[in-house]
Amino acid sequence: MTDFSVDSLQHVIQSRRSTKPRFFNGEMVDDDVVWKILESARWAPTHGLTQPWYFKVYTGLGLTTLADFQANWYQQTTTPDKFNPDKLERLKTNVTKASHVIVLCMKRQLSEAIPEIEEIEAVACAVQNMALTASAYSICSFWGSGGPTYTDEMKAFLGLGERDRCLGYLYLGYSDTPATTSTRMPIQSKVDWINK
Ligand SMILES: Cc1cc2nc3c(=O)[nH]c(=O)nc-3n(C[C@H](O)[C@H](O)[C@H](O)COP(=O)(O)O)c2cc1C
Repeated sequence: MTDFSVDSLQHVIQSRRSTKPRFFNGEMVDDDVVWKILESARWAPTHGLTQPWYFKVYTGLGLTTLADFQANWYQQTTTPDKFNPDKLERLKTNVTKASHVIVLCMKRQLSEAIPEIEEIEAVACAVQNMALTASAYSICSFWGSGGPTYTDEMKAFLGLGERDRCLGYLYLGYSDTPATTSTRMPIQSKVDWINK
C-alpha cells in the first residue's frame, strides 16, 4: 500500500534544520520546486476542511518590496532610544538573501465556527509540511517571526483582514554551510503514559 519507507520519513524529519538566511549563498530555487513545496502545504490536517492557510510568495524584485516594507516599518515605529542600526540592516538584508520568502498567513473563515487556535495549528502543520519538503529537496529553510510579523502594519501590507493573521516568513534558499545539528530533550521527558 505504501511506496515510501518509514525510515526515509524519519530521516527527513530528523535531518530538517533551520538555516538562517544570512548563511544563504544566493543560489535560486526553481519556481517549479517552490510550487512542489507549496503543494505539500495543501495536505496538512484542517478541522472542518477550512484550509485556512494563505501564502504570499516573494521572489526577485518582490524581495526588495518586502525588505523595503520591513525597513520603513522599523524606521517609522521605533523610538530613537530603541533604534538599532544593525537591526535595520538585518531587516533589509535577511529577506534579499533568500531565493524566495513565503509569507505564512492564516485566513479566518467568515463563520468562525472553528476555534482560531485550530486554524493557526492547521497553518503550522502546513508550514512543517513545506519545511520537510524543502529539506527533502536539500533546500534550506527558516521560519522567522521577528520584525513586523504580528503587527497591524504587516496585515495591511499583506492585504489581510482584521481577523486574519500573519504567522511569519518561511525563507528558502541554498547554503554552502547549512545547519546540521540541533538538540531536543528525550521524548520520555515530555510524555506521561497512562495505562491504568
Ligand atoms: C513559529 C516559529 C517561529 C520561529 N521564529 C524564529 C525567529 O523569529 N527567530 C529565530 O531565530 N528562529 C525562529 N524559529 C526557528 C527556531 O529558532 C528553530 O526551529 C530552533 O532553533 C530549532 O532549530 P531547528 O529547526 O534547526 O531544529 C521559529 C520557529 C517556529 C516554529
